[in-house]
Amino acid sequence: MNILLAGGAGYIGSHTAVELLNAGHDVVIVDDYSNSCPEALKRVEQITGKSFVSYEADIKDKKAVSQIFYQNNIDCVIHFAGLKAVGESVRQPVRYYRNNIDTTLTLLECMQEAGVKNIVFSSSATVYGEDNPMPCVETMKRGCCTNPYGWTKYMMEQILEDAAFADAGLSVILLRYFNPVGAHASGLIGEDPQGIPNNLMPYVSQVAVGKRDCLTVFGGDYATPDGTCRRDFIHVMDLANAHLKAIEYAVQRKGVDIFNIGTGTPYSVLDIIKAFEAAAGVRIKYEIGARRAGDLPECWANADKAARVLGWRAQRDLAAMCRDAWKWQSNNPEGYK
Ligand code: NAD
Ligand code: WQD
Repeated sequence: MNILLAGGAGYIGSHTAVELLNAGHDVVIVDDYSNSCPEALKRVEQITGKSFVSYEADIKDKKAVSQIFYQNNIDCVIHFAGLKAVGESVRQPVRYYRNNIDTTLTLLECMQEAGVKNIVFSSSATVYGEDNPMPCVETMKRGCCTNPYGWTKYMMEQILEDAAFADAGLSVILLRYFNPVGAHASGLIGEDPQGIPNNLMPYVSQVAVGKRDCLTVFGGDYATPDGTCRRDFIHVMDLANAHLKAIEYAVQRKGVDIFNIGTGTPYSVLDIIKAFEAAAGVRIKYEIGARRAGDLPECWANADKAARVLGWRAQRDLAAMCRDAWKWQSNNPEGYK
């Protein structure tokens, strides 16, 4: 298949490109490099030994994107392109709504015009919001999001569902990622946050490599086994494989399907620190600080539907997540620069 990866130069997109190319698919990558760089794509070619087409374009630019659809015979779209920093979305809500919603609308319009019927969307566990019991199952209500980023995901899910309702030929897969971490085992590609990392694993990695002094653990007094929050961390290559399974499923059916993509096992912030110390062989300096606004005490997936319908289950454990994150970080202390 020929698969258009919107936002494919980013963290999850680049790992998914490796997985798709290795499985024999062709990819066309479109990215404006607002949160990534072309070097990631060179590394994807290095890992796979395969070349592919890429375009520097803003997915909101309808003219540019529709040309890309007409120049390439696209079978399926995977929509990764979006802004994703929760705190930034609180400070810049309009920018988040504009970018995330508009990219989705532009892709849907271009797909309609080019007759492309399959789309896999990067959704998030964040759409479950605050009030649900754990583990999350796909049938639980969504909403009560704690920030504008989460609301953009909620709205984009709704837009895609409405589009599928109106066009019986459309196949929409919503993948709700939990906490993607780790890197390709080569250490050539990985997560490359700009500035101070917002997320736990890249922060821990930067403390381990000596770029940051000390990790602040956001809250040690939650009603959890060790007092720190628990999350469902998922290796980015397992997540990449879920996209492979999702596109293969997407082209066989019509309508909307939602899948949680997590391991089903929660680990605490302190578990992550310990596992990372073991993988890297270094001490992670940390202090317990105040809770971070908007954090849920616990969040993890029931991923049975993905196993049942897609035949997908996470294969890599926490040790592999930390080992591969460390290989990427220690080989590339300044990221792709
Ligand atoms: P990322 O920032 O590394 O990748 C997103 C890519 O989209 C970047 O390369 C960026 O340059 C590009 N992009 C953004 N706006 C664009 C636009 N208008 N036109 C063209 N390109 C644009 O993020 P990621 O971690 O790879 O996440 C991919 C998707 O998965 C995002 O939609 C994100 O919201 C979602 N998601 C991520 C996580 C996570 O923790 N990483 C969890 C759940 C969902
Ligand atoms: C994990 C845990 C923090 C940093 C976010 C988004 C979510 C999804 C995945 C996109 C929490 C704690 C963190 C630090 C810490 N993304 N922490 N010190 O918040 O679970 O999920 O990424 O869709 O929408 O919200 O991930 O990595 O930020 O935090 O103690 O310096 O680590 O409090 O308990 P989160 P995270």
